[in-house]
Amino acid sequence: MDDDDFLLLNPGPVPVRESVLDAMAEPMVSHRSAAFESIYERAQAGVEYVFEQSTPTEQATGDGTALLLNGTATMGMEATVANLVGSEDHVVALVNGKFGRRFARIAERHTDNVTRVEVPWGESIPLSAVDDAVRPDTRLVTMVHNETSTGLQNPAWGVGRLVADHDAYFAVDGVTSVGGDVFCIDDWHVDVAITDAQKALETPPGISAVYVTSEVQNAFDGASAPFYEDLDWHLRKAESHQTPFTSAVPLFRGMAEAVEAIEREGMPARIDRHHRQARAFRAGFAALGLDRFPEASDHTVLSNTVTAIELPEPIRGDPAAFFAAVEERNVSISGGQGHLSGDIFRVSNMGSLADEQVLRGVRVVGEALDAVGVDTDPAAGVAAARELTETS
Ligand SMILES: Cc1ncc(COP(=O)(O)O)c(C=O)c1O
Repeated sequence: MDDDDFLLLNPGPVPVRESVLDAMAEPMVSHRSAAFESIYERAQAGVEYVFEQSTPTEQATGDGTALLLNGTATMGMEATVANLVGSEDHVVALVNGKFGRRFARIAERHTDNVTRVEVPWGESIPLSAVDDAVRPDTRLVTMVHNETSTGLQNPAWGVGRLVADHDAYFAVDGVTSVGGDVFCIDDWHVDVAITDAQKALETPPGISAVYVTSEVQNAFDGASAPFYEDLDWHLRKAESHQTPFTSAVPLFRGMAEAVEAIEREGMPARIDRHHRQARAFRAGFAALGLDRFPEASDHTVLSNTVTAIELPEPIRGDPAAFFAAVEERNVSISGGQGHLSGDIFRVSNMGSLADEQVLRGVRVVGEALDAVGVDTDPAAGVAAARELTETS
């Protein structure tokens, strides 16, 4: 790839490999044909590989099913709540960023009985606060593993242990961790895990996946679920490698191709690469004199897929010229979401970035800061990042 080529560093959608685009351009087939069933089967097998082989110690039992959904991960989050929660049920929702809040808002549409465990965006949620909130009658606990809006990774293992002590289900949004970082379905007692196509699965946006363990499958109540999001129906159709309604055929094809490429790389190597590149981004930005945004304390750690950095004082609140200077260099990064707009910027290393692309991201941020009058040393940033790409 040339230094001038467009470089997408947003936390999704992420760059997509040529073979995925080629697969998507193939002639159309019916979603009820054997040809489609084999596409679904390949995509499902690859997605199950990712969900089940992201545990470092040993592989998961594989005692679950990955369902592919027409619709992005928000649909998977909503389907999870809608298939498990009745209007009287108690839900505990952890909120320390935009997507934790989204899960809480979804739950609040389905029951009036939601307890939010909430701290300011970018701060860590103490496990003791979760422990206080979960009750004997709690039906569901929702959390976001990797909070894309702030660059924090929440302690799914700790929350899962607390949930397992009660008779509740545990739904985890793994949208920006599954496929790029450790994710332990069994060890963390996860009942439903959700991910999106356009993040670490390197597929264009539009479809998503939910992994449902065999135990939680028994709790799905098809009669009261929303028609389009009936997970029981999805499970039945998945037995013949179909979806209940018309499938987004090209996206399923792209997904099949993408997850097979992930399988060839292997999750352990892929996770190591994501960790290394996230460390390189952090070191590079620190050497530019920038501060990271999230407060990782208690058991919460920094994300290995999304890096959130505070905009320096002179441009905080008015960063348009900075973002324009990044864009002029043919690189795309993200600003803050919600009330963090104007305060931070975010980059992603999800997918299959080359180390040189990470270094280019650091250099371009340094150059753009320079261009708007913030005194930085782009070469120092690149050198610090390079040290981590080369040595770790
Ligand atoms: C952590 C997390 N959860 C959920 C979503 C929702 O994704 P979508 O807008 O694709 O439904 C996103 C998207 O960025 C995300 O980062």
